[in-house]
Amino acid sequence: MDTFVVQGGNPLVGTIRVSGAKNSALPCMAAAILTEEPITLENIPQVRDISTERRLLQSMGAEVEIGSGETAHSTTISCRTLSDPVAKYEIVKTMRASSLVLGPLIARTGMARVAMPGGCAIGGRPIDLHIKGLEKMGATITQEHGYIEARADRLRGAHFVFDKITVTGTEDLLMAAVLADGETVMENCAREPEVVDLASLLVTMGANIEGAGTATIRVSGVSKLRGARYRINPDRIEAGTFLIAGAITGGDLIVSHCNTSHLGAVIAKLLEAGARVEVLGPDTVRVRSNGRLAAADISTEEYPGFPTDMQAQYMALATQAEGTSLVRENIFENRFMHVQELVRMGAGIKVDGKTATVLGPARLSAAAVMCSDLRASASLVLAALVAEGETIIDRVYHMDRGYEQIDEKLRSVGAKIQRLGNLFPPRPSA
Ligand code: UD1
Repeated sequence: MDTFVVQGGNPLVGTIRVSGAKNSALPCMAAAILTEEPITLENIPQVRDISTERRLLQSMGAEVEIGSGETAHSTTISCRTLSDPVAKYEIVKTMRASSLVLGPLIARTGMARVAMPGGCAIGGRPIDLHIKGLEKMGATITQEHGYIEARADRLRGAHFVFDKITVTGTEDLLMAAVLADGETVMENCAREPEVVDLASLLVTMGANIEGAGTATIRVSGVSKLRGARYRINPDRIEAGTFLIAGAITGGDLIVSHCNTSHLGAVIAKLLEAGARVEVLGPDTVRVRSNGRLAAADISTEEYPGFPTDMQAQYMALATQAEGTSLVRENIFENRFMHVQELVRMGAGIKVDGKTATVLGPARLSAAAVMCSDLRASASLVLAALVAEGETIIDRVYHMDRGYEQIDEKLRSVGAKIQRLGNLFPPRPSA
């Protein structure tokens, strides 16, 4: 297991480039299931979740070709035959987003077996709404031996309202609806840019979709989809993490190759906290700070609200802001696991239910800390960048799930961060 060693105290200065969005790439890769023709996706981030999805598709019989050199970030997926429409537990347990293959598999092959995602570090995360939607579209669903089995000769269009806004639920059912017989109307849909990315790919493949990015999506089913080439949008969470890195270290950072129109809530909060943020163009934003930050409250909401995937990183910033910041997590229960590690570094944080109260500014001091999930690990790296001394961050495989070469990128703008091999080997048993 790799470890990061971070020496705090360096302001980050320079230009840092954002990769493609993992959370767009995952559903777009699953969309390849919907056609016999090849799908080529560009701007795919090289992160562990993408390798996991590649393995998942290959295990079902897909051919997956990865570019090299100049085209290292493109992938061509060909699902000419799907010999085994099963998402096995060994793969699903490491990545909950594997449930995204449920909708496309049943739409394309009439049957899907997908392992139930296990409990996840950030709460229960059920997929009941995916199942409910598929049932409305005529699928018969059974659950046995830890697997969900779905069958339908051909799905039929349906009208449903999501009980709760779900991002991958919207994406899964959108992929089911595009090949269904007739019209589907989905209400209370997620409006995240990743849903729009997926819908744009599906339209390029020949689907009829209206309203992606709004709460109501209408789909008129077609009998067949074709191959396509599509470029994945930039990762708004990686971009937001870099903006916070610039602000927290009192740096001057240009974040390039992002989509600034997706960063509204994060930029607004950074301005409120006293950072200088300038949008230099549609894909470039500059953040500067003299290191003096003011407390500002956040409350996580579905897009376009403040993203839950930025809550942990924002909390690292709040530890350095003058005053009391309230951080309210509305999307996931149990998403405060970074708190205890930040407290070990000297942060003043108290959690009461959904709300964390952060008292700043705190003098953070280096400690040995452990990542518990993807975004929590980003928060620890941010805290380490301003802590006194050398922080050792263990279990960075969580970070590698969703951030491409984060250590190299941060080093290129002045961070002192090193990746080491296993610093904490398991003790030999007695
Ligand atoms: C996606 C993102 C994740 C992000 C989250 C919220 C991907 C691969 N992951 O996760 O990074 O943090 O959106 O922006 O895109 N829920 C149900 N039943 C369901 C589905 C969801 O009750 O069938 C609940 C969840 O427990 C949670 C809420 O709905 O409380 C939102 O979850 P959801 O939007 O589905 O998150 P994901 O799509 O898993």
